[in-house]
Amino acid sequence: MSTQALTHSPVWKELQAHHGELAGLHLRELFAADSRRGTSLTVEACGLYLDYSKNRVTGRTLELLLALAAERGLGGRIEAMFRGEKINTTEDRAVLHTALRAPRGEKIMVEGEDVVPAVHEVLDKMGAFADRVRSGAWRGQTGRKIRNVINVGIGGSDLGPVMAYEALKFFSDRALHCQFVSNVDSDDFAEAVCGLDPAETLFVISSKTFTTLETMTNAQTARDWVLRGLGGDESCVAKHFVAVSTNAEKVREFGIDPANMFGFWDWVGGRYSMDSAIGLSTMVAIGPDNFRALLAGFHEMDEHFRTAPLGENLPVLMGLLAVWYGDFFEAQTAAVLPYEQYLKRFPAYLQQLTMESNGKSVTLDGRHVDYNTGAIYWGEPGTNGQHSFYQLIHQGTHLIPCDFIGFAKTLNPIGRHHDILLANMFAQAEALAFGKTAEQVEAEGTRAELVPHRVFEGNRPSNTILAEVIDPQTLGKLVALYEHSVFTQGVIWDINSFDQWGVELGKVLAQRIIPELESQDAPDLQHDSSTNALIARYRRMNS
Ligand code: F6P
Repeated sequence: MSTQALTHSPVWKELQAHHGELAGLHLRELFAADSRRGTSLTVEACGLYLDYSKNRVTGRTLELLLALAAERGLGGRIEAMFRGEKINTTEDRAVLHTALRAPRGEKIMVEGEDVVPAVHEVLDKMGAFADRVRSGAWRGQTGRKIRNVINVGIGGSDLGPVMAYEALKFFSDRALHCQFVSNVDSDDFAEAVCGLDPAETLFVISSKTFTTLETMTNAQTARDWVLRGLGGDESCVAKHFVAVSTNAEKVREFGIDPANMFGFWDWVGGRYSMDSAIGLSTMVAIGPDNFRALLAGFHEMDEHFRTAPLGENLPVLMGLLAVWYGDFFEAQTAAVLPYEQYLKRFPAYLQQLTMESNGKSVTLDGRHVDYNTGAIYWGEPGTNGQHSFYQLIHQGTHLIPCDFIGFAKTLNPIGRHHDILLANMFAQAEALAFGKTAEQVEAEGTRAELVPHRVFEGNRPSNTILAEVIDPQTLGKLVALYEHSVFTQGVIWDINSFDQWGVELGKVLAQRIIPELESQDAPDLQHDSSTNALIARYRRMNS
């Protein structure tokens, strides 16, 4: 891999010069110059169709971005990740979420050991457990069937499972009521268990480390709630709690039978773990076969990412376009707009995936970057966003690249809904790209003073991803697409996309402040004057 600083590389400089030439060009002109643009700047792979023609790029841009990828050694870095090299250097770990979806029989070596048999052993154990809960063979302490499954976790131990549960609700067992508790805010727990019977409730405590403050606080509260509801007999913990973790010792300490613990490995990052045992609640909801289909979808995209030429590679193209906007157009944010209600939590899931991965400002060897890294990701499902923030995307002063995600078919065909939904998605991408000129507005007879207000500049870029239908396999492909796009960006920026040191400081400070809020005697506050005053006021308000 090139060790030359990114911004000093000749390709980077060429991209800068090219951006200068292209910045004044409008998508209207690019489309007018090439009648085939809308079909040629597309790629189809793994059943996903990516139309990237409405991006502010030419053939030359793509050539240069691909040259940048080659210069940064992207191909080699992809291989290194799949081979299990310790590319998470600051934590001295391999990055092998791809092994979680490797088919039985494949070989992936980590420190001399093939990890694939262990992956399938856990999957089989999860499958047997999920079947028992779903069939009613697993009973609570009083002999009642489990009707409520509550995943307790946070970050990667929550966002993936809740997103997948919502995305695949159509495929879920409606007799089971699934809930997710993540926030240490007691409102979250109280509302999740409101009206539920502990005798029919199973908690899945999901925490890679089994030390995370929020999860352990909620787990303890859940334990108290179950014990209180079932007469205080400690033996009920074994019937109402299972754990997903890499930390067997802590799980045992909590009182969960290690037989009811589902393990994973330190080479699975939290935000890359929804297809590990962290997906247990997803599997209970949708069943083992659907979960296997989800994994097959992930794997199909993994293979595409690993083997497709960079210029036809969906995650690589999306990653390079993100670099193009972030570093050359100085776009600060990117919107993800699924036109599929089942994907309502997909933007929230992507926030952790993208921002915890690429929100970094030093390179792998610790030098401060002199370019933008990860953008701010956000979004809402269409068409709701249209009646909320799209105004700013269309007529505001910020350039916000958008990913539109839609499906040809709906799982709930009712009347004209789906055609109306997709018409809106296509219309938004069209309006953003082409806008409406002052001449067009005037020709409609608009009063002169209103014309500037009704002009749409256009030239606002977007990708459109179109797939057949939202199902387990497609969800796997979609998530893997973004995972690998994030990795592609991280490689270009020469950052570690797999650590998250930025979440540590706040955790440490909170541990210092907790006793200051709880102590009977006035604490000797040694923070800054603002934090001291806030703590003192909080204490007064609670006295
Ligand atoms: O937010 C920091 C983080 O470490 C995430 O990366 C992780 O997904 C989350 O906390 C939860 O960690 P754990 O699964 O160990 O409870």
